[in-house]
Amino acid sequence: MSSVWRKKPISAFHAEAGKSELKRILTKWGLTSLGIGAIIGGGIFTLTGIAAHDHAGPALALSFVIAGIGCLFASLCYAEFASVLPVEGSAYAYAYGTVGELFAWFIGWNLILEYMMGATTVAVAWSGYFSKLLHMFGLHIPDWLNNDPITYGGFAFNLPAFLITWLVTGILIKGIKEAASTNNLIVVLKVAVVLFVIIAGAFYVNPENWTPFIPAEQPILDAMGNPTGDVNFGFGGVLTAATIVFFAYIGFDAVSTQAGEAINPKKDVPFAIIASLVICTILYILVSLVLTGMVPYSTLDLKAPVASAFSGAGISWAVYPITIAAVAGLTSVMLVMMLGQTRIFFGMAKDGLLPRGIFGALHPKFKTPYKSTILVGLIVSIVAAVTPINNISEMCSMGTLLAFSMVCLAVLILRKREPDLERPYRTPMVNIIAPLGVLFNIFLMTQVRIHTWYAFIIWGTLGVIVYFLYSKRNSNLEKGAQ
Ligand code: ALA
Repeated sequence: MSSVWRKKPISAFHAEAGKSELKRILTKWGLTSLGIGAIIGGGIFTLTGIAAHDHAGPALALSFVIAGIGCLFASLCYAEFASVLPVEGSAYAYAYGTVGELFAWFIGWNLILEYMMGATTVAVAWSGYFSKLLHMFGLHIPDWLNNDPITYGGFAFNLPAFLITWLVTGILIKGIKEAASTNNLIVVLKVAVVLFVIIAGAFYVNPENWTPFIPAEQPILDAMGNPTGDVNFGFGGVLTAATIVFFAYIGFDAVSTQAGEAINPKKDVPFAIIASLVICTILYILVSLVLTGMVPYSTLDLKAPVASAFSGAGISWAVYPITIAAVAGLTSVMLVMMLGQTRIFFGMAKDGLLPRGIFGALHPKFKTPYKSTILVGLIVSIVAAVTPINNISEMCSMGTLLAFSMVCLAVLILRKREPDLERPYRTPMVNIIAPLGVLFNIFLMTQVRIHTWYAFIIWGTLGVIVYFLYSKRNSNLEKGAQ
């Protein structure tokens, strides 16, 4: 058998989990809070606008249910793995223990799309909300300092996106404890505001806005007013909206990257993965019902739909707490995404697939992977400052969907190969849930635009080249074999 299929023995994971070099301080609810911190962000505060306005109408809630079911399948499989292999690498590590090294590397490479591109997308969204907030207080950032050069059409640099990335980087270097307490504060604020949106908004719902629940299909016209052949709305529109709002769910899996810092990873990480997802799914469905019930969906703003629903219903003052919660909420998404990225790199470096001197080096005092955190901060801050962001969120979803499908597949492989392994958490009805998870997530991948697929293939090819040039030769398993 070729060495690219070699697998890391499960016993090696267990040995590693027993002697984590990171500080173990995270409790069950601390982990759940990290999950919620990563989940609630740009998806609910921004993407609901375009999803309802252009694709699903009041059936936005149905799109959230569809995307949520796919994520639920994946989360149940993640939870089993997290209980069996409580290490930092998440989907990368699970693939290494089941499918083989090249595949694991490929998944790790794609997790860069999820975590780093996720943080980048959110940094730019943050900058948009932050300038809106300043504007509300009479302050104004010049356009060239709040845009990328391509969108602006001349010299420009997105300074707020750049600076927030370095603030988050600083908190992450300081320590997991600081990162977790900052996250906890923000989570309380953003959950409070989401509850406010649901409860206060419910009084302003006019059920007439929900009919028809799924608007009839409408042909999409080009600039000349001719039909393009594509249609909006109808059930197809509900599915398109589901692929858009899938982004809103990304983050529950980030909990699995914190296994090395959890006090009781085998029990608490699976709990937190499922709990954070279930809590956010319920909140999301209620928010989308309220938003489309408060005002006709065609009047929702594309950039700030939640705030616009409230001003549309005549509650203009609510725009302030909502915008503040969005700015804070997006900060915590960045915090957990960048934290997750460095922990995945840490896991890959421990296996020899990435240079240990950079990605595995811990700060002597703070015990955080500081060099890798600085590198991640550098890349995220520069990409966020100079790149138009529209397509990056789709790349982030692609990388995530691939990881989700893989985890669902790998859980079945491990059940067959190691039936007697101790599993503190078992995926219920695994023979149904796991295949459905694979199919569902791959189906969503087929729904993204063809350009995203091209970019995805180029990124994947680059990853395979790096594997053969560096990782395969330096892998611990290679060295062990020699
Ligand atoms: N789920 C995260 C968000 O919506 C990535 O911002």
